[in-house]
Amino acid sequence: MKGIILAGGTGSRLYPLTAVLSKQLMPVYDKPMIYYPLATLMQAGIKDILIISTEQDLPSFKKLLNDGSQLGIKLSYQVQHEPKGLAHALIIAENFIKNDNFAMILGDNLFYGQTLPTNLLKAANRTSGCTIFGYHVAHPENYGVVEFDRAGIVKSIVEKPQQPKSHFAIPGIYFFDSQAVGFAKNVVLSERGELEIVDVLKQYLTKQELNVEIMGRGIAWLDTGTHADLLAASQFIETIDNRQGLKINCPEEQAFRNGWIDAAQLKAIAEPLMKSGYGAYLLNILQETDV
Ligand code: G1P
Repeated sequence: MKGIILAGGTGSRLYPLTAVLSKQLMPVYDKPMIYYPLATLMQAGIKDILIISTEQDLPSFKKLLNDGSQLGIKLSYQVQHEPKGLAHALIIAENFIKNDNFAMILGDNLFYGQTLPTNLLKAANRTSGCTIFGYHVAHPENYGVVEFDRAGIVKSIVEKPQQPKSHFAIPGIYFFDSQAVGFAKNVVLSERGELEIVDVLKQYLTKQELNVEIMGRGIAWLDTGTHADLLAASQFIETIDNRQGLKINCPEEQAFRNGWIDAAQLKAIAEPLMKSGYGAYLLNILQETDV
């Protein structure tokens, strides 16, 4: 299984922060935003990952993450010249995907929770079709929304409906088989000028190959769309980190716990970072391997 992180877009709702800095490089408490979706893909056991971003921002992502070998993973990079939507990213990734199954995660979506690995691994282990999630939110009108019938079967999927038929939003993590690229090519531009991911999902739904899993109460799905959302996400991460002394979505830790890097490699990453406390945290993992 492969992975894609879509870290493009204009970030226009975060101006003027995004005037010179890519949204996904902004800090969410102690890490650049892209660390969170990266660690989530790693939690799903995915090592071969394509990062898609703008021509302007891609060099910064490369500088930050290199080829991924320091994390025991393989990173590659591709430009999306215009912010033409999530389904457009699938077409860009065609040569990377080939005939493999893959997950796509949005570079500004943060996931956290005890049961998350179970959700992710179940989706990753499906050999065909598509798996998305339904997550109860207060304001579904800001998202793609799933409507269920009484038996819990999906009836419809609508992008940002003015009158949502449920409170279940579709988070920005999708598991696809390789049909997704062909489906993306059938999609036409929406009113906002994008190839919408919901139009890919609808094609899976028509073929009865769409699985929707509920992400329950124990999982936090945070969005960083507005200034307030960005601050709330930082505060959430800080609260847990301070209380537990455990970091959320730390790719270096995930690499070590997955057995993709060894103690010496983790130590080599940690030692130059001691002044920020991030390094001390990584070194401490070597003492406490059972949390
Ligand atoms: C996109 C998708 C939407 C999904 C959301 C998750 O919205 O179009 O279906 O629910 O991501 O963050 P956008 O961020 O492009 O408005």
